[in-house]
Amino acid sequence: NGEMKTWAGATNPVYSPVCVVTPDGLQRQLIGSYPVCTEKEAMEALNAAVAAYDNGRGEWPTMSVANRIACVERFTQKMIEQRDVVVKLIMWEIGKSAADSAKEFDRTVEYIYATIDALKDIDRQSSRFEIEQGIIAQVRRSPLGVVLCMGPFNYPLNETFTTLIPAIIMGNTLLFKPPKHGTLLHYPLLQAFKECFPRGVVNTIYGRGNSIIPGLMQSGKIDVLTLIGSSKVANELKKLHPKVNRLRAILGLDAKNAAIVTPKADIKLAVQETVLGALSFNGQRCTALKIIFVHHSVASSFIQQLNEAVNKLQFGMPWEKGVNITPLPEPNKPAYLKDCIDDAIEHGAKVMNEGGGASAESFVFPAVLYPVNAKMKLYREEQFGPIIPVVPYYSLEEPVQYLIESTHGQQISIFSNDQEEVASLIDPLVNQVSRVNINCQCQRGPDVFPFTGRKDSAEGTLSVVDALRSFSIRSLVATKLTDDNKH
Ligand code: G3H
Repeated sequence: NGEMKTWAGATNPVYSPVCVVTPDGLQRQLIGSYPVCTEKEAMEALNAAVAAYDNGRGEWPTMSVANRIACVERFTQKMIEQRDVVVKLIMWEIGKSAADSAKEFDRTVEYIYATIDALKDIDRQSSRFEIEQGIIAQVRRSPLGVVLCMGPFNYPLNETFTTLIPAIIMGNTLLFKPPKHGTLLHYPLLQAFKECFPRGVVNTIYGRGNSIIPGLMQSGKIDVLTLIGSSKVANELKKLHPKVNRLRAILGLDAKNAAIVTPKADIKLAVQETVLGALSFNGQRCTALKIIFVHHSVASSFIQQLNEAVNKLQFGMPWEKGVNITPLPEPNKPAYLKDCIDDAIEHGAKVMNEGGGASAESFVFPAVLYPVNAKMKLYREEQFGPIIPVVPYYSLEEPVQYLIESTHGQQISIFSNDQEEVASLIDPLVNQVSRVNINCQCQRGPDVFPFTGRKDSAEGTLSVVDALRSFSIRSLVATKLTDDNKH
């Protein structure tokens, strides 16, 4: 509510995945702490957002688009002044390489400016009038209300802001909880929020999501839930809302993106894109390739080249130049990945690359597993880590059937240089996922492209323009033409 609160309550420690060597072995380093709000304090923050929205009559939801844009521009300028510290915090909190942390920051700034341009276009269109059947109408975009915004740890700045910025710029007010891993990096931006927006427009809360968020949902005061995270959490939260039919949800959720490598593929290209797609930021991207179907006739050549490429990856600290594989922020992740690998081995797969799966505290070296089959966890579970499960197939029906049966529906990649083969796959596949990539990895960008998914992978659509639409309603001011007003 426009105040920076001095904190006297409980705090949670923040440990970096970058470890130090101690007599007891590698240990994550303590790099800070964050406040743990009580339910009461979280509710006060929600009430501030509700008061600022004031049922659509508040200063912010009634402010002109041009003035709201000016606030966001001022905020972005102040955010840019904090670039160095935010980039360093991304690196230390989630172990992202320095180059990728800088890219995350710069991409976010570009996204904000693209959003501003898109909103100016939408606003220009809304000044037009349509006349039909004796009625003249002005179509505008109006806000939805109070938004609860929660971002993910893997893009703690970028993904959070691809919902937060469109939500506020459309006139909504907001309650924002930074991700558990990726909390500190938002701190340098709080002052900018305070200085650039009216009181109560952006309210930041910290704490244990599972103790403070349920009460906020149960209050019925949240109009829009936006979350980039797991479908399980999203479903549980939605159910808590007393009027779930009134709640809008804009969600980016689980994915198990597959690649299909046919015998007509350029294997070298397929390998390059698989390494990028499966292992960028250690496979911790919702858009990552998480299972690879390779035709049995080209499987051995694909695996051999994949092993070579994986073993060339540079393993190290986030600040090291050219580093590819870095420490993992989630403390339980190495044990989970080991369990997936053990389960695959038990069911007949092998780790194909030397050192694959080796781990030490927060480090896990990527593993190529082959042949993966339907009995293994890795066949269906989203590993969200550096493991590449490779499934041999005999007929294209097999990967298509996999997608049909999947509970996920985000993206797929097809690797083939045979245009007829590609064309024959597009129709069956585009009806299973929301993006088909041909001879390239799965990814979100360019950010102006619509970003969504089918089934448990998403609700609503993000992108520069789609997000503005998702966080607003198209409303009309319609006037009947009479003799008095028709001129
Ligand atoms: O985790 C999901 C991100 O939106 C992925 O974005 O494909 O650009 O890495 P990206």
